[in-house]
Amino acid sequence: MELLKFRMVMLLLISSLLLVILPQVSGVRFIVGGNMGWSSNVNYTVWAKGKHFYLGDWLFFVYDRNQMNVLEVNKTDYETCNSDHPLVNWTRGAGRDLIPLNVTKHYYIISGKGFCYGGMKLAINVANPPPPPSASPVTSDCPTTPYRAQMVIMPIAFTIAAAWDVFLRAIW
Ligand SMILES: *[C@@H]1O[C@H](CO)[C@@H](O)[C@H](O)[C@H]1NC(C)=O
Ligand SMILES: *[C@@H]1O[C@H](CO)[C@@H](O)[C@H](O)[C@H]1NC(C)=O
Ligand SMILES: *[C@@H]1O[C@H](CO)[C@@H](O)[C@H](O)[C@H]1NC(C)=O
Ligand SMILES: *[C@@H]1O[C@H](CO)[C@@H](O)[C@H](O)[C@H]1NC(C)=O
Repeated sequence: MELLKFRMVMLLLISSLLLVILPQVSGVRFIVGGNMGWSSNVNYTVWAKGKHFYLGDWLFFVYDRNQMNVLEVNKTDYETCNSDHPLVNWTRGAGRDLIPLNVTKHYYIISGKGFCYGGMKLAINVANPPPPPSASPVTSDCPTTPYRAQMVIMPIAFTIAAAWDVFLRAIW
């Protein structure tokens, strides 16, 4: 019984702590291409279809650093696969590049070295996050926390609480 109470208190403590910390770092991190990563043989138009990209989200590119790269270009260069004058060269050299979607605009990303012609090109539109559903009552003690952040926070809080639980069982 005491352990159960303690568990509830820990869960509450951790949740409120995360509510304060997380909103600034939250946002969805999309692994571009899913399991296939940033590679040929993926149709990125199909991959992006039905996904919603919002301000504060991230694009994570995982690829063979010896072959591909990650270049942000304008619409014309996206369409023609021209990698001669990228707007931003996101390539950092490790084959693991993270693009913060911190501007509401269309992002056009291609791989140079010929891969764009084979289909390694991604066009997405980044929008402002939607407001929380109007039906949900504003009873949270932290009403400024975006709805999307809350969806992330609860699972994390439960995971940490569960880890605590295992830890406590081990030492008691
Ligand atoms: C993209 O950049 C190229 C070269 O700098 C330029 O010729 C072209 O007009 C630009 N296209 C757009 C849509 O800005
Ligand atoms: C992009 O930056 C990387 C790392 O600085 C560099 O090795 C590469 O040559 C650059 N590529 C282009 C197309 O500018
Ligand atoms: C977006 O992020 C990039 C890379 O971190 C940075 O260079 C740029 O200044 C940022 N733009 C805004 C509007 O915050
Ligand atoms: C990707 O799929 C779309 C929609 O099915 C199609 O129009 C497009 O030609 C495909 N792109 C490539 C590079 O195969």
